[in-house]
Amino acid sequence: MSGATGLPEQLTTRLRTVFDDARTRAAGIGPAVVDATDVLADFVLGGGKRVRPRFAEAGRAVAHGARAVVPAADDTDAALVDLGAALELVQACALVHDDIIDASDTRRGNPTVHRVFAARHAGDRWLGDPDRFGESMAILIGDLALAWADDLAAGLPARLAPTWRTMRTEVLAGQLLDIVNEAGRDESLGAAEKVIRFKTAGYTVARPLELGAVLGGADDDLVAALRTIGLDLGAAFQLRDDLLGVYGDPRVTGKPSGDDLVTGKRTVLIAEGFSRSAPGQADELRTLLGTDLDDAGLARARAILTESGAQAAVEARIDSTLASALSAIDSLPTSTEARDRLAGLAHDITHRAA
Ligand code: IPE
Ligand code: IPE
Ligand code: MG
Ligand code: MG
Repeated sequence: MSGATGLPEQLTTRLRTVFDDARTRAAGIGPAVVDATDVLADFVLGGGKRVRPRFAEAGRAVAHGARAVVPAADDTDAALVDLGAALELVQACALVHDDIIDASDTRRGNPTVHRVFAARHAGDRWLGDPDRFGESMAILIGDLALAWADDLAAGLPARLAPTWRTMRTEVLAGQLLDIVNEAGRDESLGAAEKVIRFKTAGYTVARPLELGAVLGGADDDLVAALRTIGLDLGAAFQLRDDLLGVYGDPRVTGKPSGDDLVTGKRTVLIAEGFSRSAPGQADELRTLLGTDLDDAGLARARAILTESGAQAAVEARIDSTLASALSAIDSLPTSTEARDRLAGLAHDITHRAA
């Protein structure tokens, strides 16, 4: 990234202007819409690791590093920031809706959006059911985030549009598969792997890398190589997320630990737990998952996943995926600097505590 400030600062500045504009438009509609806009702005500006914009930046760096002649002046800086801001708005939609779907109480260290509005409803003794009101508000706020992401994306170079469209559909499809597998008690590893490819790997790593690379003028072969690396790394990112969802420290992750067990989510970790534990333990896991577990129940489910070797198997899978992605990054026909940037990100997202 050229310029005096780094991408995170530029993203904050850009997102502030997006929300200022949105606030002005909301003011012309009514105070409740301003309020909703402010809650979304606080959510987007108040946290998040900015993983997706960082991969977009790395993708562009790989594209630039692959060019025989490095352009003296690059005219894609503003587009990269817009792309990053748009990706963070897609992320806001995904997370706000995901927390309704997963009935999560906290996100980024704060109460989730649906809980905020449920509490306000209850506090003000409004008419109707507070939880339903909170969820309805959060659905609409998530929709606003996606609409505003699309507004930003519409201003990006047209060559990015097909990937943008693919990304939107695949994340929604992945979330859909996730809840269907959960409701249907699917125990197969293949189903869990498919979910993470669609719900996470695409929109978190593969597509941002690809979008950045296309922005930077990469050819089709380079884009395809980055997509493959991105899908692998994105899967490893979600495997880490699944471990953090069961064993993580909520003070560090900013989101609950054990929710996946309470909702009975069909993660790769759980699939490994079923296939690796002794029959009696697998049955016990089956009866625990998807129930309102207390601390003892959570501890027991964690113990089964650890003793069966499922936790270690997922750690091993993260390590082997990272190793193969790093070797593919090493072979990318680009500059050492771009390879190092991407390799550093690959390490960060697979070995993180938050
Ligand atoms: C959380 O993504 C959702 C997943 C795809 C696992 P992040 O871990 O990137 O969340 P933020 O943006 O940093 O909060
Ligand atoms: C991650 O869902 C995918 C999206 C949000 C699209 P999860 O339910 O696995 O993520 P966390 O753990 O709540 O962040
Ligand atoms: Mg979820
Ligand atoms: Mg969730």
